[in-house]
Amino acid sequence: MSKRSGYEDLEFVSDFYDSMYNQLPRRDIEFFLGYAKQAGGKTLELGCGTGRVLIPTASAGCEITGLDFSPYMLQKCREKVAKLPQKIQKKIHLVQGDMTNFDTGEKYALATIPFRPFQHLITVAEQKACLDCVHEHLREKGKLVFDVFHTYLPRLIDTRYFMEMAVGESLQLPDGRVVKRTERTAAFHHAEQYNDIELIFYVNYPDGRKERLVHAFPMRYFYRYEIEHLLSICGFKILEFYGNFDKSGFNDESPEMIFVAEKTG
Ligand SMILES: C[S@@+](CC[C@H](N)C(=O)[O-])C[C@H]1O[C@@H](n2cnc3c(N)ncnc32)[C@H](O)[C@@H]1O
Repeated sequence: MSKRSGYEDLEFVSDFYDSMYNQLPRRDIEFFLGYAKQAGGKTLELGCGTGRVLIPTASAGCEITGLDFSPYMLQKCREKVAKLPQKIQKKIHLVQGDMTNFDTGEKYALATIPFRPFQHLITVAEQKACLDCVHEHLREKGKLVFDVFHTYLPRLIDTRYFMEMAVGESLQLPDGRVVKRTERTAAFHHAEQYNDIELIFYVNYPDGRKERLVHAFPMRYFYRYEIEHLLSICGFKILEFYGNFDKSGFNDESPEMIFVAEKTG
């Protein structure tokens, strides 16, 4: 079982997640929603987290199963789902599981892996296991849509990234805590193609107490043709490839690598 992203054993990560990404919104929700609407059947979202993409997808009328191995992220998602109208709640199924080894007992028209959970799979064996499971769960000609970041070469060699760098504005949590964030790279692992990353949270409590919390995890980086080969080996044909969520083409400056693939065979 792959168990190294920190989400599965650090509860505070789920406490801060929604505030962080409400503040720094990604433009990916509409993108993934578009594929769910076109799919003509159920969607399976791997690494669904707190439901940032899953809830808008169900709210737009699409049936969706979310799988995640973090009990904390899933709990946040469940709390949000419980506040939705019954008819939207009925469109949502949540499953705790590992995306490298799961069996929901269903076939889907679409599988998605939004916001880089695939980069928590460090080894090729884990990546292939995930793609094999997805293949098994897709109906004939079902689609897989997922994004990874476009690897930025200075972040692989420049030791200035070992210094903590401030990220975003302070987070104001509903319970009164105020959180300042930094991030840094803790180590390079060129031979295995991943960096150790630390997301660091400086928490100020309303009573004056202070705490420093660290979400540390390894993050795999990929190159375009590596993913193309992986998809091909695992029985997928690439239909579309983008450099950003506005569907612009991939080039040197693109922030993302976004793959839309179809199950073959
Ligand atoms: C960056 S969050 C993305 C959450 C959500 N897709 C979104 O767009 O906001 C990564 C998620 O992947 C989950 N995850 C990481 N590795 C996983 C694995 N092997 N199996 C299932 N979930 C995993 C984490 O628990 C976390 O919720």
